[in-house]
Amino acid sequence: MSFDLVLFGGTGDLAWRKLMPALFQAFRHGTLPESGRIIGVARDDLSDQQYRALIRTRFDEVDLAKRPSPEEFDRFAALLHFLRMDLSRPDDYQRLANTLRQRQADTVVMYVATAPSLFTAVCEQVAAAGLNTPNTRIVLEKPLGHDLASNRAINETVRHVLSEKQIFRIDHYLGKPSVQNLFALRFGNALFEPLWRRENIANIQITIAEDLGVENRGAFYDQTGALRDMVQNHALQLVCALAMEPPINAHADAIRDEKLKVLRSLKPWTSETLDQNVIRGQYTAGVVAGEVVPGYREEPGVNPQSTTETFVALRAEIANWRWAGVPFYIRTGKRLAGRDARIVVNFRPAPHAIFRTPNGAANRLVIRLQPKDGLELHLLAQGQDNRQHSRSAIQSLTPVHLDLDFDKRFGSERVGAYERLLLDVIDGRLNLFVRSDEQEEAWRWVEPILEHWRADASGPRPYAAGTWGPAAASAMIARDGHCWSEEC
Ligand code: BG6
Repeated sequence: MSFDLVLFGGTGDLAWRKLMPALFQAFRHGTLPESGRIIGVARDDLSDQQYRALIRTRFDEVDLAKRPSPEEFDRFAALLHFLRMDLSRPDDYQRLANTLRQRQADTVVMYVATAPSLFTAVCEQVAAAGLNTPNTRIVLEKPLGHDLASNRAINETVRHVLSEKQIFRIDHYLGKPSVQNLFALRFGNALFEPLWRRENIANIQITIAEDLGVENRGAFYDQTGALRDMVQNHALQLVCALAMEPPINAHADAIRDEKLKVLRSLKPWTSETLDQNVIRGQYTAGVVAGEVVPGYREEPGVNPQSTTETFVALRAEIANWRWAGVPFYIRTGKRLAGRDARIVVNFRPAPHAIFRTPNGAANRLVIRLQPKDGLELHLLAQGQDNRQHSRSAIQSLTPVHLDLDFDKRFGSERVGAYERLLLDVIDGRLNLFVRSDEQEEAWRWVEPILEHWRADASGPRPYAAGTWGPAAASAMIARDGHCWSEEC
């Protein structure tokens, strides 16, 4: 099967950091059809050769194991082309049309990895140039829009141009092997299903912590913030994967229908919950991995008086029979204590104690997403130091855990998120992409938070880089008698 992949934003950050490395991995794994073309599009004045040379240098920043050898790069580079385009000029889309016509590929993928403000214009121009044929697929990066209204406007324009089946709204968290394994754990195994409900689960915590700052994306990030960058999409998609009912099959709409129901069941905000259950923070200078790093306001491209949040912690509830009353705590931020993404499912303690157990000890399932993916099941067992209690009728239990390291089990060369999702687009599989109604529902839920912050002059709480964020995030969860998993 032949394909043309048009990469709008072909010299942008996403192209360098994620897309090119993922495409190369697919190429190396032999899953990217060699009869394809990858056409980088940007305003720069580059020949194919210069574009290839630029990409080659960028691969020096990629992990050694994922870097191509010179021979591998030469073979991969044969797929790479460059087209200079000003995305506001109709003539340039005609030139793109001519380039695509040379091949008549079976599938044409338009990957819009540009600033979100250009999405609508690109889609309109694609249609005006007659490029919206039945074999065209469009990929839109998150965040799709800035709020509910802009999200709807983009979705309406795109739906006007292409059918829903041709629209791939990407959320790369859905492509992560650990998230695939969450679906496998819940819907491929019968073990947890009877326990997966309010009667047995005390709370669920989702942490997506990054030790990096905003890198060279200061200008974009300052307009975006952690709520739009991470919570509206990645974190809420994780909530969906955790809380959804089993779908009737693995087809895209069966899965998306169930995710949508979760988003619709998120308890609406009140002024009281907005005050108490949402914490925003912004990092100040600090030390990360032994290095002194600047505060957010000192980062290039960031307004020195910025009130953009680089940290969010919130408490959500899902108002349905399965989950009523179970807090879902979400926490994400830049320049935190480490790169650590995990989901922690805290089960309720045993209902009646016949053993002595450490304070508050209960079963816990940890789904590790980053830096490695795996599963830990925390149990209580009878350890060896029971000699001193041997005469006592009450035995003491010790926490222990079963640890499943997916890298060790399946090898660390597994298909990465972007690799998987790019291949899904080329093959036309929509399961791991987000439908417009899911996105709208997620925006509807986060919008009151944005409004609340706009009206609240106090701004984000400062936290030192290299910590776990503002103390208020711990106080929020402590009010319920719980604690973040690294604290207890
Ligand atoms: C992106 C955000 O969607 O996800 C970035 O825009 C963030 O700000 C990134 O760094 C995190 O992805 P991952 O896969 O490294 O956890």
